Amino acid sequence: MIYENVSLKKYNTFGLNVKADRLVTFKHEENAIHFFEQNKGIDQKLMVLGGGSNLLFTGDYHGTLIRPEMEGITLEGKTGNDVIVSAGAGVIWDKLVESTVNKGIGGLENLSYIPGLVGAVPVQNIGAYGAEASKTIGKVRAINVTDGTVREFTPEECKFGYRDSIFKGELKGKYLITRVYFRLSTKPKLSLEYGSLKDELNKMGSTSLGNVRKTVINSRIAKLPDPQLIGNAGSFFKNPVVTPSVAEKIKSNYPRAPLFSDPSGGIKIAAGWLIEQCGWKGKRFGDAGVHDKQALVIVNYGNATGLELFELSEKIRISVAEKFGITLEREVEVI
Ligand code: EPU
Repeated sequence: MIYENVSLKKYNTFGLNVKADRLVTFKHEENAIHFFEQNKGIDQKLMVLGGGSNLLFTGDYHGTLIRPEMEGITLEGKTGNDVIVSAGAGVIWDKLVESTVNKGIGGLENLSYIPGLVGAVPVQNIGAYGAEASKTIGKVRAINVTDGTVREFTPEECKFGYRDSIFKGELKGKYLITRVYFRLSTKPKLSLEYGSLKDELNKMGSTSLGNVRKTVINSRIAKLPDPQLIGNAGSFFKNPVVTPSVAEKIKSNYPRAPLFSDPSGGIKIAAGWLIEQCGWKGKRFGDAGVHDKQALVIVNYGNATGLELFELSEKIRISVAEKFGITLEREVEVI
């Protein structure tokens, strides 16, 4: 379907009422291939829009937005305990998590209740509660938007990093992901080391997949605002990784600072804590604000503009840099 001069209010979780010149949606891969073949060589501004849960529009979008709406969750194969499940790019992520957990298939449970669509999962390499999507992704199927050719990416080719992949880097804007294949298990090794996950689960009596999912959902609901009620895009910034000497200095001034060792050899600091120390938590300026239960989340209480939210985020960034000498990097993409 092609829509002209369309409002994006329901297509971005900040709830911003901006417009796009054109929105093109595809329910089937063949239609998308056909569209890109037809448009070959035409110089136009294209951007893929998923669930819009990681975007901040600072104004109207003058170009064409592409939205994949491919449906379907398929059990592709099973060998012993190993299971391959694929999902169309337009499947709501949490519907996939729910469906696998309900079938006793593990691997995605810690990633419960994250807003967005399956197609965005490899782009952003979503993560939560000690798990990252990249650990379960077996293959990503995508169409080259410049000529309509199909390519399947191995996990290595996806170049996954912390909230990062090749689709955000060198191939940004070049591919439309149509289907993602996940390597899951009917006998998963549960990952319960994050925060108080284990303690919360012990209270529930058993560490079943369903209970892990419930615990994660409860924790998310307690800390993160529901985008249906209050516009937001989850964490606005990434957690920065600093050198051990910078971390040491912070520790000596703030013995309770949340510091975690990072595989890179550096020390990860909770950005939410840095922002809270700068006094932003729960602050509100008109309809733009900082969530009162998690300072890493910038919220739109109703009628804030994208520019107001962006300006607030920049003030936060400057104050963290001034107080701690650490420059926060955005997780949310500003358009
Ligand atoms: N903290 C504060 N003040 C705050 C927020 C956090 O002191 O306002 C402290 C907490 O007390 C805790 C530590 O910071 O000691 C970590 O907080 P939390 O467990 O909430 O996790 P996070 O590092 O702030 C990350 C992800 C979230 C994910 C949670 C849970 C990033 C950028 N964010 O947040 O992901 O849900 O862990 O695993 O890595 C998202 O990406 O949109 C997102 C919500």
